[in-house]
Amino acid sequence: MSVITTIEDLRVLAQKRVPRMFYDYADSGSWTESTYRANEADFQKIKLRQRVAVNMENRSLATTMVGQKVAMPVAIAPTGLTGMQHADGEILGARAAKKFGIPFTLSTMSICSIEDVSQATGGHPFWFQLYWMRDRDFMERLMDRAKAANCSALVLTLDLQVLGQRHKDLKNGMTAPPKPTLANIINLMTKPRWCLGMAGTRRRTFGNLVGHAKGVSDMSSLSSWTREQFDPQLDWNDVEWIKNRWGGKLILKGMMVEEDARLATESGADALVVSNHGGRQLDGAPSAIEALPAIVDAVGQRIEVWMDSGIRSGQDVLKAVALGARGTMIGRAFLYGLGAMGEAGVTKALDIIRHELDVTMAFCGHTDINTVDKSILLARNP
Ligand code: GLV
Repeated sequence: MSVITTIEDLRVLAQKRVPRMFYDYADSGSWTESTYRANEADFQKIKLRQRVAVNMENRSLATTMVGQKVAMPVAIAPTGLTGMQHADGEILGARAAKKFGIPFTLSTMSICSIEDVSQATGGHPFWFQLYWMRDRDFMERLMDRAKAANCSALVLTLDLQVLGQRHKDLKNGMTAPPKPTLANIINLMTKPRWCLGMAGTRRRTFGNLVGHAKGVSDMSSLSSWTREQFDPQLDWNDVEWIKNRWGGKLILKGMMVEEDARLATESGADALVVSNHGGRQLDGAPSAIEALPAIVDAVGQRIEVWMDSGIRSGQDVLKAVALGARGTMIGRAFLYGLGAMGEAGVTKALDIIRHELDVTMAFCGHTDINTVDKSILLARNP
C-alpha cells in the first residue's frame, strides 16, 4: 500500500482486509442508496471563501461538546458490529479516541461490551448509545451498566425502531459471527489478518445483549434483534422517562426536520444530532448537511445542534461547523481506519481529519474553530 493520505485510502484498504459481509454492512445505505450518496455529494457543493494575509499562527481546534472538552469538534459515532470490522474493534476505537482527546460512543449493538471497553480504557469516560427495546428490565440494567462504567453521556438514537432495508446484508446473510457457509469460508480465506485477529479474541457476537436480553430467535443477527426486540412504540414520553432514569447528559440522534428538533429541544436534552443515520434508514430523505441550516435556525440558540452522515474529511467538519453545527460525529470514516489498520488506522483517520480541518480553517482566515461561522462560505451556497 502506498502512503495513506485520505479517508478514501483507508476505505480501499479496509475493503481488502475486512470480510465482505462486514465491509458491505458498513458501506451501504438503504434501498436505492440515494440519501447515502447525497450525504457526501452535498458537502462537495458547498464552496469556501479563501482569505489571505491573515496571521495564521497558533491555531486551535479545541472546543466543547455537551460541556466536555474535545480536541476537535468530532466524536466517534456509535456504529453497530464494530468488533466485526476488526477484532476488538470497539476497544481499539475507544483507545484511539482517548489518546486523541475526543469522545468515543459505544453502540448498543457492539461486539465488545460496555464492561470490556471500560476495562480496556482504564475507566476513561466514553459515551453509550441506546436503542430502545421491549424488555424494559433489560433497558434499566443496560443504563445502570453504562453508569457503572463511567459513561459521561447517553446518545439515544431515535431513527431506528424499524430497520431500513440494506440489500447487501440480506444477500450476504450477515450475522455476527458469520455462519460457516461455503461462500463465507471462501471469502474468509482471503482475509488472513482478520481471521488471525478473531482467533485471538473471545468477543464475536453482541456483547451487550447476548446473555442479558431475552426473546430473540437468532441472537447473532442484527435483523432479528431489530425485528423482535426493538420497541416500535417509542415516543416522546419514553424519551422523558429515559432522560429521568439516566439523569446525566443526554444526546438525541436522528432529527431531520424542525418539528422534531423543537420536540427534542423541549425534552430538555443537552444536544441533538441532525442525522439520517448515514443514509441507512429513510432513503429519499435529504442529506444531513442540507437539513442542518433550518434546524440550526429553529433551535440553535436553545440546544447544541450537531450533525453526522457523510463526513469524510476535515473540510466536511469545517463546513458543518460553518453551517452552525457545534459538533459532528463520524461513523464510516472511523470504521474504514479500523478495518484497514486497527487502532493505528483509527488514529490515522483522526489525524487526517484534524489536519484537513486545521489547514482549511487557516485558508479561510480563522485560527480558532470557535469563531468559524457561515461567513467562511460563499453566499450562493445552499
Ligand atoms: C445500526 O445499527 C445500523 O446498522 O445502522
